[in-house]
Amino acid sequence: MENQEFILISQEGSVGILQINRPKVLNALNLKIINNLVTEMEKMDQDETIRVIVLTGNQRSFAAGADIEEMRNEKTVSMLLKDQFSVWDRISLINKPIIAAVSGFALGGGCELMMNCDMVIASETALIGQPEVKLGIMPGAGGTQRLVKNVGLMKAMEMLLTGDPITAREAKAYGLVNKVVPVECYFAEAMKLAKKIGSMPPVAVQLIKKSAKKAVDQPLESGLQYERNAFYLLFSTEDSKEGMGAFAEKRHPHFTGR
Ligand code: CAA
Repeated sequence: MENQEFILISQEGSVGILQINRPKVLNALNLKIINNLVTEMEKMDQDETIRVIVLTGNQRSFAAGADIEEMRNEKTVSMLLKDQFSVWDRISLINKPIIAAVSGFALGGGCELMMNCDMVIASETALIGQPEVKLGIMPGAGGTQRLVKNVGLMKAMEMLLTGDPITAREAKAYGLVNKVVPVECYFAEAMKLAKKIGSMPPVAVQLIKKSAKKAVDQPLESGLQYERNAFYLLFSTEDSKEGMGAFAEKRHPHFTGR
Protein backbone atom coordinates (compact mmCIF):
# COMPACT_ATOMS: atom_id res chain seq x y z
CA MET A 1 0.00 0.00 0.00
CA GLU A 2 1.59 3.24 -1.13
CA ASN A 3 0.48 6.75 -0.27
CA GLN A 4 -0.50 8.82 -3.29
CA GLU A 5 -0.12 12.54 -3.78
CA PHE A 6 -2.65 14.12 -1.37
CA ILE A 7 -3.95 10.70 -0.21
CA LEU A 8 -2.73 8.74 2.83
CA ILE A 9 -3.53 5.06 2.64
CA SER A 10 -3.56 2.55 5.49
CA GLN A 11 -5.28 -0.56 6.76
CA GLU A 12 -6.42 -1.58 10.24
CA GLY A 13 -7.60 -5.17 10.34
CA SER A 14 -10.20 -5.53 7.60
CA VAL A 15 -10.72 -1.77 7.25
CA GLY A 16 -9.03 0.18 4.46
CA ILE A 17 -8.50 3.84 5.33
CA LEU A 18 -8.20 6.68 2.82
CA GLN A 19 -7.32 10.10 4.16
CA ILE A 20 -7.46 13.19 2.00
CA ASN A 21 -4.29 15.10 2.78
CA ARG A 22 -4.12 18.58 1.33
CA PRO A 23 -4.49 20.58 4.54
CA LYS A 24 -3.11 23.91 3.22
CA VAL A 25 -6.27 24.41 1.15
CA LEU A 26 -8.68 22.64 3.51
CA ASN A 27 -8.54 19.48 1.39
CA ALA A 28 -9.88 21.19 -1.73
CA LEU A 29 -10.42 18.44 -4.26
CA ASN A 30 -8.34 18.91 -7.39
CA LEU A 31 -8.62 16.44 -10.27
CA LYS A 32 -5.57 14.51 -9.07
CA ILE A 33 -7.09 13.88 -5.63
CA ILE A 34 -10.34 12.55 -7.03
CA ASN A 35 -8.51 10.36 -9.54
CA ASN A 36 -6.18 8.95 -6.90
CA LEU A 37 -8.99 8.51 -4.39
CA VAL A 38 -11.22 6.58 -6.76
CA THR A 39 -8.32 4.44 -8.02
CA GLU A 40 -7.39 3.51 -4.45
CA MET A 41 -11.04 2.73 -3.62
CA GLU A 42 -11.12 0.39 -6.60
CA LYS A 43 -7.93 -1.32 -5.43
CA MET A 44 -9.43 -1.78 -1.96
CA ASP A 45 -12.57 -3.16 -3.56
CA GLN A 46 -10.43 -5.87 -5.18
CA ASP A 47 -8.38 -6.58 -2.05
CA GLU A 48 -9.78 -9.60 -0.22
CA THR A 49 -8.18 -8.56 3.08
CA ILE A 50 -10.31 -5.39 3.10
CA ARG A 51 -14.04 -5.56 3.84
CA VAL A 52 -14.97 -1.93 4.57
CA ILE A 53 -13.51 1.41 3.47
CA VAL A 54 -13.28 4.49 5.69
CA LEU A 55 -12.82 7.84 3.96
CA THR A 56 -11.75 10.84 5.99
CA GLY A 57 -10.02 14.22 5.93
CA ASN A 58 -8.65 16.00 8.97
CA GLN A 59 -10.26 17.68 11.99
CA ARG A 60 -10.51 21.09 10.34
CA SER A 61 -11.81 19.91 7.01
CA PHE A 62 -13.15 16.79 5.34
CA ALA A 63 -13.03 18.62 2.00
CA ALA A 64 -13.88 22.25 1.20
CA GLY A 65 -15.08 21.45 -2.30
CA ALA A 66 -13.63 21.31 -5.76
CA ASP A 67 -10.42 23.27 -6.20
CA ILE A 68 -11.65 26.74 -7.15
CA GLU A 69 -8.19 27.81 -8.29
CA GLU A 70 -8.08 24.88 -10.74
CA MET A 71 -11.54 25.73 -12.11
CA ARG A 72 -11.68 29.47 -12.26
CA ASN A 73 -10.25 29.94 -15.75
CA GLU A 74 -12.02 27.01 -17.33
CA LYS A 75 -14.48 27.38 -20.20
CA THR A 76 -17.48 25.29 -21.09
CA VAL A 77 -15.70 23.36 -23.83
CA SER A 78 -12.59 22.62 -21.74
CA MET A 79 -14.81 21.44 -18.89
CA LEU A 80 -16.85 19.25 -21.22
CA LEU A 81 -13.74 17.70 -22.73
CA LYS A 82 -12.25 16.96 -19.31
CA ASP A 83 -15.39 15.04 -18.38
CA GLN A 84 -14.19 15.10 -14.77
CA PHE A 85 -17.36 13.70 -13.27
CA SER A 86 -17.07 10.31 -14.98
CA VAL A 87 -14.41 9.54 -12.36
CA TRP A 88 -16.91 10.33 -9.62
CA ASP A 89 -19.41 7.93 -11.20
CA ARG A 90 -17.03 5.05 -10.50
CA ILE A 91 -17.53 5.52 -6.73
CA SER A 92 -21.07 4.19 -7.00
CA LEU A 93 -19.65 0.96 -8.49
CA ILE A 94 -17.61 0.16 -5.37
CA ASN A 95 -19.04 -3.02 -3.85
CA LYS A 96 -17.73 -2.65 -0.32
CA PRO A 97 -19.36 -0.28 2.18
CA ILE A 98 -17.74 3.15 2.39
CA ILE A 99 -18.02 5.08 5.65
CA ALA A 100 -17.21 8.79 5.70
CA ALA A 101 -15.63 10.13 8.89
CA VAL A 102 -16.36 13.84 8.59
CA SER A 103 -15.08 16.76 10.64
CA GLY A 104 -15.07 20.46 9.82
CA PHE A 105 -15.94 21.52 6.29
CA ALA A 106 -17.80 19.19 3.94
CA LEU A 107 -18.66 21.76 1.30
CA GLY A 108 -19.46 21.59 -2.40
CA GLY A 109 -17.58 18.61 -3.83
CA GLY A 110 -16.78 17.66 -0.21
CA CYS A 111 -20.48 17.32 0.56
CA GLU A 112 -20.96 15.44 -2.71
CA LEU A 113 -18.12 13.08 -1.84
CA MET A 114 -19.69 12.51 1.57
CA MET A 115 -23.04 11.74 -0.07
CA ASN A 116 -21.32 9.18 -2.30
CA CYS A 117 -20.45 7.22 0.85
CA ASP A 118 -22.85 4.70 2.37
CA MET A 119 -22.77 5.97 5.94
CA VAL A 120 -21.46 9.10 7.64
CA ILE A 121 -20.08 9.63 11.12
CA ALA A 122 -19.75 13.37 11.76
CA SER A 123 -18.00 15.37 14.42
CA GLU A 124 -19.97 18.09 16.21
CA THR A 125 -17.86 20.62 14.32
CA ALA A 126 -18.92 19.48 10.86
CA LEU A 127 -20.40 22.09 8.53
CA ILE A 128 -22.11 20.59 5.53
CA GLY A 129 -23.36 22.41 2.47
CA GLN A 130 -23.37 23.20 -1.22
CA PRO A 131 -22.03 26.78 -1.50
CA GLU A 132 -21.51 26.70 -5.29
CA VAL A 133 -24.27 29.25 -5.92
CA LYS A 134 -22.11 31.85 -4.15
CA LEU A 135 -19.46 31.31 -6.83
CA GLY A 136 -21.91 31.72 -9.68
CA ILE A 137 -21.84 28.01 -10.45
CA MET A 138 -23.74 24.98 -9.17
CA PRO A 139 -22.99 21.48 -7.86
CA GLY A 140 -21.71 19.20 -10.62
CA ALA A 141 -20.84 15.97 -8.82
CA GLY A 142 -24.40 14.98 -7.96
CA GLY A 143 -25.21 17.60 -5.31
CA THR A 144 -28.59 18.70 -6.62
CA GLN A 145 -29.71 15.09 -7.06
CA ARG A 146 -28.37 13.34 -3.96
CA LEU A 147 -29.13 16.19 -1.57
CA VAL A 148 -32.79 16.17 -2.63
CA LYS A 149 -32.94 12.40 -2.20
CA ASN A 150 -31.27 12.63 1.21
CA VAL A 151 -32.94 15.60 2.89
CA GLY A 152 -36.04 16.19 0.77
CA LEU A 153 -36.78 18.88 -1.80
CA MET A 154 -37.59 21.80 0.54
CA LYS A 155 -34.46 21.61 2.69
CA ALA A 156 -32.27 20.81 -0.31
CA MET A 157 -33.66 23.81 -2.17
CA GLU A 158 -32.83 26.08 0.79
CA MET A 159 -29.29 24.73 1.06
CA LEU A 160 -28.64 24.82 -2.69
CA LEU A 161 -30.08 28.28 -3.29
CA THR A 162 -28.61 30.07 -0.24
CA GLY A 163 -25.34 28.12 -0.25
CA ASP A 164 -25.45 28.21 3.55
CA PRO A 165 -24.10 25.14 5.35
CA ILE A 166 -25.91 23.22 8.07
CA THR A 167 -24.42 21.91 11.28
CA ALA A 168 -23.81 18.24 11.99
CA ARG A 169 -26.80 18.15 14.34
CA GLU A 170 -29.11 19.58 11.69
CA ALA A 171 -27.69 17.14 9.16
CA LYS A 172 -28.46 14.31 11.57
CA ALA A 173 -32.04 15.53 11.99
CA TYR A 174 -32.44 15.43 8.19
CA GLY A 175 -30.89 11.96 7.86
CA LEU A 176 -27.83 13.24 6.02
CA VAL A 177 -25.46 11.72 8.59
CA ASN A 178 -25.80 8.63 10.79
CA LYS A 179 -24.28 9.86 14.02
CA VAL A 180 -22.79 13.00 15.53
CA VAL A 181 -20.02 12.65 18.12
CA PRO A 182 -17.49 14.95 19.83
CA VAL A 183 -14.65 15.97 17.54
CA GLU A 184 -12.12 13.89 19.50
CA CYS A 185 -13.84 10.64 18.60
CA TYR A 186 -15.40 10.95 15.13
CA PHE A 187 -12.68 8.86 13.49
CA ALA A 188 -12.67 6.22 16.24
CA GLU A 189 -16.46 6.01 16.00
CA ALA A 190 -16.28 5.52 12.22
CA MET A 191 -13.66 2.80 12.73
CA LYS A 192 -15.87 1.10 15.33
CA LEU A 193 -18.74 1.00 12.85
CA ALA A 194 -16.41 -0.17 10.06
CA LYS A 195 -14.99 -3.00 12.20
CA LYS A 196 -18.47 -4.13 13.20
CA ILE A 197 -19.56 -4.32 9.55
CA GLY A 198 -16.18 -5.86 8.70
CA SER A 199 -16.99 -8.76 11.05
CA MET A 200 -20.13 -9.60 9.05
CA PRO A 201 -20.07 -12.06 6.14
CA PRO A 202 -18.65 -9.99 3.26
CA VAL A 203 -20.65 -11.45 0.38
CA ALA A 204 -23.91 -10.81 2.25
CA VAL A 205 -22.69 -7.30 3.11
CA GLN A 206 -21.95 -6.49 -0.54
CA LEU A 207 -25.25 -7.84 -1.83
CA ILE A 208 -27.18 -5.99 0.89
CA LYS A 209 -25.41 -2.76 -0.06
CA LYS A 210 -26.25 -3.23 -3.73
CA SER A 211 -29.82 -4.19 -2.98
CA ALA A 212 -30.45 -1.24 -0.64
CA LYS A 213 -29.09 1.17 -3.27
CA LYS A 214 -31.63 -0.12 -5.77
CA ALA A 215 -34.33 1.34 -3.50
CA VAL A 216 -32.95 4.82 -4.14
CA ASP A 217 -32.70 4.70 -7.90
CA GLN A 218 -35.05 2.04 -9.23
CA PRO A 219 -38.76 1.32 -9.20
CA LEU A 220 -39.87 -0.92 -6.32
CA GLU A 221 -40.64 -3.87 -8.59
CA SER A 222 -37.10 -4.16 -10.01
CA GLY A 223 -35.57 -3.55 -6.57
CA LEU A 224 -37.68 -6.37 -5.13
CA GLN A 225 -36.62 -8.67 -7.94
CA TYR A 226 -32.95 -7.84 -7.37
CA GLU A 227 -33.37 -8.45 -3.64
CA ARG A 228 -35.03 -11.82 -4.17
CA ASN A 229 -32.34 -13.07 -6.54
CA ALA A 230 -29.58 -11.86 -4.21
CA PHE A 231 -31.32 -13.58 -1.29
CA TYR A 232 -31.37 -16.91 -3.15
CA LEU A 233 -27.76 -16.41 -4.27
CA LEU A 234 -26.54 -16.18 -0.67
CA PHE A 235 -27.68 -19.75 -0.02
CA SER A 236 -24.72 -20.93 -2.08
CA THR A 237 -22.15 -19.29 0.22
CA GLU A 238 -20.29 -21.16 2.95
CA ASP A 239 -20.90 -18.16 5.20
CA SER A 240 -24.67 -18.63 5.02
CA LYS A 241 -24.26 -22.23 6.24
CA GLU A 242 -21.82 -21.02 8.90
CA GLY A 243 -24.14 -18.19 10.05
CA MET A 244 -27.26 -20.29 10.32
CA GLY A 245 -25.30 -23.30 11.66
CA ALA A 246 -23.71 -21.18 14.40
CA PHE A 247 -27.14 -19.88 15.37
CA ALA A 248 -28.52 -23.41 15.66
CA GLU A 249 -25.47 -24.61 17.60
CA LYS A 250 -25.54 -21.53 19.87
CA ARG A 251 -21.95 -20.47 19.07
CA HIS A 252 -20.29 -17.43 17.46
CA PRO A 253 -20.02 -17.70 13.69
CA HIS A 254 -16.68 -17.44 11.91
CA PHE A 255 -17.14 -15.90 8.47
CA THR A 256 -14.51 -16.52 5.81
CA GLY A 257 -15.97 -14.62 2.88
CA ARG A 258 -16.57 -17.81 0.92
N1 CAA B 1 -10.62 25.56 -3.56
C1 CAA B 1 -9.37 26.09 -3.51
N2 CAA B 1 -8.83 26.62 -2.36
C2 CAA B 1 -9.59 26.59 -1.26
C3 CAA B 1 -10.90 26.06 -1.25
C4 CAA B 1 -11.40 25.53 -2.48
N3 CAA B 1 -12.64 24.95 -2.57
N4 CAA B 1 -11.42 26.18 -0.01
C5 CAA B 1 -10.46 26.77 0.73
N5 CAA B 1 -9.36 27.02 -0.01
C6 CAA B 1 -8.10 27.65 0.42
C7 CAA B 1 -8.24 29.15 0.59
O1 CAA B 1 -8.11 29.79 -0.64
C8 CAA B 1 -7.10 29.43 1.55
O2 CAA B 1 -5.91 29.43 0.81
P1 CAA B 1 -4.78 30.55 1.15
O3 CAA B 1 -4.35 30.24 2.55
O4 CAA B 1 -3.71 30.28 0.14
O5 CAA B 1 -5.43 31.87 1.01
C9 CAA B 1 -7.06 28.20 2.45
O6 CAA B 1 -7.76 27.18 1.72
C10 CAA B 1 -7.78 28.40 3.76
O7 CAA B 1 -9.10 28.88 3.49
P2 CAA B 1 -9.71 30.21 4.16
O8 CAA B 1 -8.62 31.18 4.48
O9 CAA B 1 -10.81 30.68 3.26
O10 CAA B 1 -10.28 29.58 5.51
P3 CAA B 1 -11.55 30.09 6.33
O11 CAA B 1 -11.53 29.28 7.59
O12 CAA B 1 -11.58 31.56 6.44
O13 CAA B 1 -12.81 29.66 5.44
C11 CAA B 1 -14.14 28.16 4.10
C12 CAA B 1 -13.08 28.31 5.22
C13 CAA B 1 -15.48 28.71 4.59
C14 CAA B 1 -14.27 26.66 3.82
C15 CAA B 1 -13.69 28.93 2.84
O14 CAA B 1 -12.36 28.56 2.54
C16 CAA B 1 -14.52 28.65 1.63
O15 CAA B 1 -15.59 29.21 1.51
N6 CAA B 1 -14.03 27.80 0.70
C17 CAA B 1 -14.72 27.50 -0.55
C18 CAA B 1 -15.88 26.56 -0.34
C19 CAA B 1 -16.60 26.34 -1.65
O16 CAA B 1 -17.12 27.26 -2.23
N7 CAA B 1 -16.67 25.08 -2.11
C20 CAA B 1 -17.33 24.72 -3.35
C21 CAA B 1 -16.34 24.65 -4.47
S1 CAA B 1 -17.10 24.41 -6.05
C22 CAA B 1 -17.50 22.75 -6.13
O17 CAA B 1 -17.27 22.01 -5.20
C23 CAA B 1 -18.14 22.28 -7.41
C24 CAA B 1 -18.56 20.86 -7.46
O18 CAA B 1 -19.72 20.54 -7.36
C25 CAA B 1 -17.60 19.76 -7.68
